[in-house]
Amino acid sequence: MRYEILVNPAFYKHAVDKRYYDWNNLYTMSEDVANLCGEESYTGGDPADPRSGTYEVKLAWMEQGLTNVNYHREDLLVFTPAYRSSTGTASCELKSMALVGMHIAHKTLKQPSWTWSTFEHKDNAPDCGGLPPAGSQGNGPTVNPNCPGASTLAQNYHFTAPDCADGSCAECNISPATNDPLSVCVTEPGQDQVGWCLDQPPASVAGKSQLCRQVPLAENYPTADQWNNTFAGLLGDQSVWSNYQLVSTQWFVFPTPPVGCANAAPEFADSNTSRPLQRPQIAVSSPEGQTRPFLGNSSMESYERSNCNACHGKSTVKQQSGEIRYMDFVYWIAVESCAVWCDMNSVDPCSCYDAISQ
Ligand code: HEC
Repeated sequence: MRYEILVNPAFYKHAVDKRYYDWNNLYTMSEDVANLCGEESYTGGDPADPRSGTYEVKLAWMEQGLTNVNYHREDLLVFTPAYRSSTGTASCELKSMALVGMHIAHKTLKQPSWTWSTFEHKDNAPDCGGLPPAGSQGNGPTVNPNCPGASTLAQNYHFTAPDCADGSCAECNISPATNDPLSVCVTEPGQDQVGWCLDQPPASVAGKSQLCRQVPLAENYPTADQWNNTFAGLLGDQSVWSNYQLVSTQWFVFPTPPVGCANAAPEFADSNTSRPLQRPQIAVSSPEGQTRPFLGNSSMESYERSNCNACHGKSTVKQQSGEIRYMDFVYWIAVESCAVWCDMNSVDPCSCYDAISQ
């Protein structure tokens, strides 16, 4: 799986004007990052117009995909950095890639905490059995462990095959075993994580992901389901896009309507007050009949499939002065500026990652 991040031209220009690409600037700023907000009255549809606001897209691409399944494909340059390669050599290869997932985030005046939409190919993962468990998500007992068994799986899914019980797959919704037991590869410079080599096959035991959809779409996101049916009908079977589904869009109910286009991330610092105000809320398995914000994508952040807004609200940089600056729900600004700064100054290990919260 490979990931790509794109932004609209208005955001690009704003980031250049504000020097958000420059780690020296991000590390010494006297204010939080503040991106443009879309205006409801603007209906021109031009993503280069600042009144359309700030958009970001994150795409998930698979190298092969399943046979007999229809994907949107593109010939892309696929980069493997030296630290993610078992040979220690970087590579850049032209490959035909299959699209399996897409996130779209959009900052507007009404939603300065952004709206978070996520799309998947319909054959990514089957539905889990039962409700998702209460509690925070992650790699532990709080994920739904009810993957459908081989006898009930009607087909191969991208992240689950009926023959998964042969030991090649990890347990249901649990991270797979590393394919780099000797730690030759580094996942993220400066981070204390197990390594993964992008040029090696999955580990033969428990090396593949076995994922099921914790919140089945049709029952839990009925509006998105309606849109999907309407558009799949209009597009028809001939269009590859009818295979992609909107899982849902997450938004926030502000206690008082937001004024201006301020960075709203500090409002999310206390998850006890912000969680109940996120939409959509999904029923989880608990004696009290609790609900919680839940929006996930099995092709992205599959280790933590629940709450776009809460995770992105935590994107901060600790300044040289010790102050914390919020990155306005954006992750790439800090991550990419730091990586470029380390490359340009030959800093290894890349020390600025320590100042970034993730
Ligand atoms: C556990 C934390 C986490 C969750 C949950 C999460 N993301 Fe992200 N997201 C990230 C990180 C970290 C990046 C940056 C990855 C990189 O630069 O390689 C990112 C990148 C993105 C980007 C590209 C722009 C950026 O900020 O760098 C978009 C758009 C995005 N995510 C949307 C979503 C949506 C929509 C959801 C929910 C369906 C979601 N994310 C859930 C952590 C998360």
